Amino acid sequence: MKGIVLAGGSGSRLYPMTASVTKQLLPIFDKPMIYYPVATLMLAGIRDILLISTPRDIERYVELFGDGSRWGLNIAYAQQPRPNGIAEAFRIGRTFLDGKPSSLILGDNLFFGSGLPQRLTAAAALQNGAHIFACRVDDPERYGVVAFDADQRPISIVEKPRLALSNWAVTGLYFYDGQASDIAADIAPSARGELEITDLNAHYLNKDCLVVERLGRGFAWLDTGTPETLMAATQFVCALETRQGIKIACLEEIALAQGFIGADDFARQAASAPGSAYGRYLKNLLGDLEIDARPISLRVVSA
Ligand code: TTP
Repeated sequence: MKGIVLAGGSGSRLYPMTASVTKQLLPIFDKPMIYYPVATLMLAGIRDILLISTPRDIERYVELFGDGSRWGLNIAYAQQPRPNGIAEAFRIGRTFLDGKPSSLILGDNLFFGSGLPQRLTAAAALQNGAHIFACRVDDPERYGVVAFDADQRPISIVEKPRLALSNWAVTGLYFYDGQASDIAADIAPSARGELEITDLNAHYLNKDCLVVERLGRGFAWLDTGTPETLMAATQFVCALETRQGIKIACLEEIALAQGFIGADDFARQAASAPGSAYGRYLKNLLGDLEIDARPISLRVVSA
């Protein structure tokens, strides 16, 4: 499966923070926002990634990620000149996807929860149809909203309804079969002038091949488009990381765990990491790795 991170947009709700910096490079606590969606794709087992952004910002992402090989990824880049809608990602990404199944994630979406990697891996095994995730929100009118029948099957999906039929919002993480680019090619702009991802999802729903997986209270889904939600996401990550001494969305750690890079690659990167908290975390992980690599008898002696 291939992945797309859509990281363009105008970020107008975060102005003036976004006057000269793209939203997805703003920090969420200790790392750029874009790390979180990239980590999510990696946890789904995806290594071929197309990063789409504006002509102004694309070079900044290239500077950050390069070709992605540091994390065992292949990262390609494409431009979206104007924020014409989320479904445009499948028009822009058509050649990259080459008719393969894909996952799209929005560059300002953060997912966290126990068991998430298993759910992502299961969704990424998809060959036919589409698989999306829904979360309960207080303000469904801001999102695509899914209504379910008594058997919990999705029956409708509506973009920013004036009167929402449920509190289940569609999150910014989507899995599709190899048809997505063809379907997106036929979508017409909505009344607000955007190619709506909801229209793509509604197409799969009408064909009865849309799975909507609900993420319950054990999961956090944060989007970070306003100063308040940006701050909330930072506080969330800070609280978890500080309390537990672990990091969310540490790309090197995930790359190693997923087998995208080997222990030697990891060791090289950890050894040369700058002295930030993130760098020290890598160095500590490296220390743990070296301990784990010793024969059990030695580990017991030093414990
Ligand atoms: P939005 O929050 O809808 O838009 P935005 O990021 O431009 O912010 P604002 O509303 O404050 O102006 O976008 C959600 C995510 O999707 C965000 O990461 C940007 C991305 N996006 C694109 O890259 N291209 C698009 O055409 C759209 C609609 C969104």
